[in-house]
Amino acid sequence: MKNILIISSSVRIDRKSHNVAQYFERYLTENNIATTEILDLKDYGFPIFDSVFKSLKAPSLYVLAFRDKIIAADGIIIVTPEYNGSIPSSLKNVIDLFNDEWFQKPIAFSTVSAGDFGGSQALTHLQFIFWKLHALTYTTNFPVAKVQDKFNDTGIPANKKQMDALAKPYIEGFIECIESSVAKQLA
Ligand SMILES: Cc1cc2nc3c(=O)[nH]c(=O)nc-3n(C[C@H](O)[C@H](O)[C@H](O)COP(=O)(O)O)c2cc1C
Repeated sequence: MKNILIISSSVRIDRKSHNVAQYFERYLTENNIATTEILDLKDYGFPIFDSVFKSLKAPSLYVLAFRDKIIAADGIIIVTPEYNGSIPSSLKNVIDLFNDEWFQKPIAFSTVSAGDFGGSQALTHLQFIFWKLHALTYTTNFPVAKVQDKFNDTGIPANKKQMDALAKPYIEGFIECIESSVAKQLA
């Protein structure tokens, strides 16, 4: 079974995109699709970037643990809100911390907004950033517009049937992307 991590990017008080991360965690588990875990950037609380991992003299245990999980993952779903037409600083902060760890890693995106457009501008930034890092980005996005109306605070969708019907081809396509990839395994 594949190991698909979910990065939940918002650290905001009363965040809503985390509910989408919780939905994916449940979807993957309940349908026996993958082992999974949410890497919640609010829990990790990475300090503001001051050095790439490679140059850190004494990386914290939680930085090492996060890195190990990224390396071990067959694929990663990044759930992120759109902030001012881009991604939140919490996410950019952790992307920049690492480099080779993202290399040829299959990465899918789910962009989230309170408004009508589902974080479409954040998506273009994500695609560009991970292109620079030579990740294998899955080009199908899972946009969630009006997130506050779509999920409760434990990640249960208001309309499960409809949400699952959207998630199914998205996840199936991502699994195909993972299977056809030649992800570089870092020890
Ligand atoms: C600083 C900030 C900037 C935002 N900018 C945008 C934006 O550019 N486009 C948009 O659709 N929503 C924007 N939003 C609203 C978010 O989409 C909304 O907060 C949503 O719930 C997802 O973010 P969250 O997971 O932090 O809750 C912004 C919210 C904040 C806090």
